[in-house]
Amino acid sequence: MKVFEGIGMKTIAILILFLMSNGYLTPVSADSGKKFKITAEKSSHQFPFFDTQTPVWAYNGSIPGPTIRGRKGQTIEIEFINNLDEPSSIHWHGLIVDNAMDGVPGVTQDPVKPGESFTYRLKLQDAGTFWYHPHLNGSEQLGHGLKGALIVESNEKLPWSQDIVWLIDDWLLEKTGSIYPRFNTGHDLMHDGRWGNVVTINGLYQPEYSVSPGERIRIRLINGANARVLTPIFDGIDAKVIAVDGKPVTQIFPYNGFVLAPGNRIDLDITIPVGAQGHTYVVKDGFTRNKFPLASLKVKAVQPIQTPVFNPPTAEDFLPAEILAGVAPFKTWDLEAIRGGQYGIGWAMNRLLWPNSDTADIRLGQPQKIVFNNNSSRLHPMHIHGTFFRVLERNGKPEAEPFTRDTVLLNARETLVIGLVPTEPGIWLSHCHIQSHAAAGMMTTVNVAPQNQN
Ligand code: C2O
Ligand code: CU
Repeated sequence: MKVFEGIGMKTIAILILFLMSNGYLTPVSADSGKKFKITAEKSSHQFPFFDTQTPVWAYNGSIPGPTIRGRKGQTIEIEFINNLDEPSSIHWHGLIVDNAMDGVPGVTQDPVKPGESFTYRLKLQDAGTFWYHPHLNGSEQLGHGLKGALIVESNEKLPWSQDIVWLIDDWLLEKTGSIYPRFNTGHDLMHDGRWGNVVTINGLYQPEYSVSPGERIRIRLINGANARVLTPIFDGIDAKVIAVDGKPVTQIFPYNGFVLAPGNRIDLDITIPVGAQGHTYVVKDGFTRNKFPLASLKVKAVQPIQTPVFNPPTAEDFLPAEILAGVAPFKTWDLEAIRGGQYGIGWAMNRLLWPNSDTADIRLGQPQKIVFNNNSSRLHPMHIHGTFFRVLERNGKPEAEPFTRDTVLLNARETLVIGLVPTEPGIWLSHCHIQSHAAAGMMTTVNVAPQNQN
């Protein structure tokens, strides 16, 4: 909280007025149908505690960018127009797509230069909660606000009375109302990246959501922060985890906090208690020692509604432990800081910095194990494109998470073993989702060769 101490109680009144007067507690929808146009451009955003608008970079001028909605099985087309002053691209985090559509400049496409465009064609294979963001100069581009949610609906409509996206972001703001302009600083690099001082949900500071007693709602939490790890706490509320990282869990379980690292998503099935009329539940972050409010759920003082009874879908065990049981890890990535690279401090995987990195070359359809070994005392949320994986071991002890992921946090000095079965050929990035760490080299690729290739 060093650069920003100006938020006091007096701002609360302004904040409430702001929330009441603006119409976008629910995310802005992109044009319906299968074609979307997404423009990255300079824009401005009103934070409630500033007199002036904050200059940001945004998709279609809005913070966050429009929520792209499609239906499982559809192919959607997104024309990306870059009106920034620097090259960019869009990556569809968690979505299984053709490699050429993955949005990684230098790997799957050329950078989209200022004034140019690129059309992404995405076949939506899985229903779930995903998000999109640039994959170039990520620290700065995400740090200025470029990100949006991508929701793939299933064909079966379940009777939640509200289906809400919470795209969580973390801003490093100066008292003047602008975004702190230095990125990938020595401080960011030596620590867990750029942690901000204002956390927003859908661009709003501590928004309040109106709910009814007895109501059953779905909240899709997305950590779109540059670096901040979150553990949202829903005290007093009956919440269940129904999906993690865009895929249904294999077994629904009660929500007791989840380490939501940058990139991670969880979908919660929440029932507002019948006797909660007039109560306000404050959802807090509990990852750091200083718990702070993220949002609140204000229960209307009305008669409870009848809670609908239904079972959200679960996934079959598509990565059973047995198929990975006899498999020896084919790659261990040691994660640590070394001297060198563009910033003087490099974040290395096997002592190599992107793009000169130690890749994993594997074969389509073959069960594989990878070891992430954190030799540092910093956090590293490791993400792999184009696949889902299962955490099999943490610090030598077996793990049995009832879900798969595309991003997992490694705490200081931790070792994780993950298992996966690659289903898509191509060159897929594997990197730390703390943007400054990735910028300082913590990236490599998983190269999935088609089966018939020798
Ligand atoms: Cu959120 Cu390489 O991605
Ligand atoms: Cu990292």
